[in-house]
Amino acid sequence: MKVLVTGVYGLLGSTIKLEAPSNFEIFGYDIDTLDITDSAAVAKVVEEISPDLVIHCAALTNVDYCEEHPDQAFRINVTGTINLLKACMGRNIKFVYISSTGIYGDYFEKEYSELDNPEPLSIHHKTKFLAERAVHSHVNNFLIVRIGWLFGGNEQIKKNFIKARIDEAKKNPLLYSDPGQKGNPTYVCDLVKQLFVLLENNCIGVYNVVGEGTATRYEYVKEIIRLSGVNSRVEAGTPEMFVRKAPVSWNESAKNFRLELENLSVMRSWKLALAEFIEKSRGVD
Ligand SMILES: NC(=O)c1ccc[n+]([C@@H]2O[C@H](COP(=O)([O-])OP(=O)(O)OC[C@H]3O[C@@H](n4cnc5c(N)ncnc54)[C@H](OP(=O)(O)O)[C@@H]3O)[C@@H](O)[C@H]2O)c1
Repeated sequence: MKVLVTGVYGLLGSTIKLEAPSNFEIFGYDIDTLDITDSAAVAKVVEEISPDLVIHCAALTNVDYCEEHPDQAFRINVTGTINLLKACMGRNIKFVYISSTGIYGDYFEKEYSELDNPEPLSIHHKTKFLAERAVHSHVNNFLIVRIGWLFGGNEQIKKNFIKARIDEAKKNPLLYSDPGQKGNPTYVCDLVKQLFVLLENNCIGVYNVVGEGTATRYEYVKEIIRLSGVNSRVEAGTPEMFVRKAPVSWNESAKNFRLELENLSVMRSWKLALAEFIEKSRGVD
């Protein structure tokens, strides 16, 4: 099966390329080889590759940058997705769109399920939701996967949250982290496994796919530093320490409601997956 992956240099795209089962042949593109805002280039690549499946990971992912650059956020996250959808329309191509649990908004105390309506707050999450809606209206055979706070990757990955926190701890005996924001740390390798389980089972529609269990940023960072063995203390900061440009929901946590219902979940507890990732990364840098 031929698979076109966008955003293949990113955390998720690069892991898909590395971990895809051998019957999935990956054709990976990123901004230097296929800028998704260039509709003619997108149409040409889809025509040339003639994929059976598109996994669309490319996006403008910096949430605060998106808030200050709504034109760019819209062009990449919405128009870029529509360019791909148009190129796939009328062809026998399954379309996988990677979305975010951040689109649910801030109106609920507990974990959001697929039964809850998205009410995105930030420009970034609004563009992710608009792109989801474009997927619904352009193609029939699709998967929309709403994911949590991704971790994993290696030295080549620009956005390695775990490494950044450990490096910070090595330089500072005391770190402050946000106890007011919660979500689901999600190991990228577990997500990729789950994605292929969904594909192998011919699933369609919307799925939350997150690491099992909820954490505040503070609990997450505290666990990272504990597992790393670095001698630094993590304390809960005050709200004024974490003021952001984007109105990011304090509750981005979700549950794998549909995966559980369909008995398809291979997602593990985030703490277990984090321990495995930190152990695997030891000595790599
Ligand atoms: N990471 C998370 O915690 C998280 C959470 C929820 C949802 N998601 C979603 O999951 C998907 C994958 O995330 P990720 O963490 O792998 O993101 P990532 O590491 O930022 O990768 C995205 C890739 O897309 C590329 N890109 C940006 N603009 C492009 C364009 N116009 N044409 C082609 N490629 C372009 C980026 O290049 P540059 O780096 O040069 O911009 C980057 O290589 C995204 O759709 C994201 O919204 C991620």
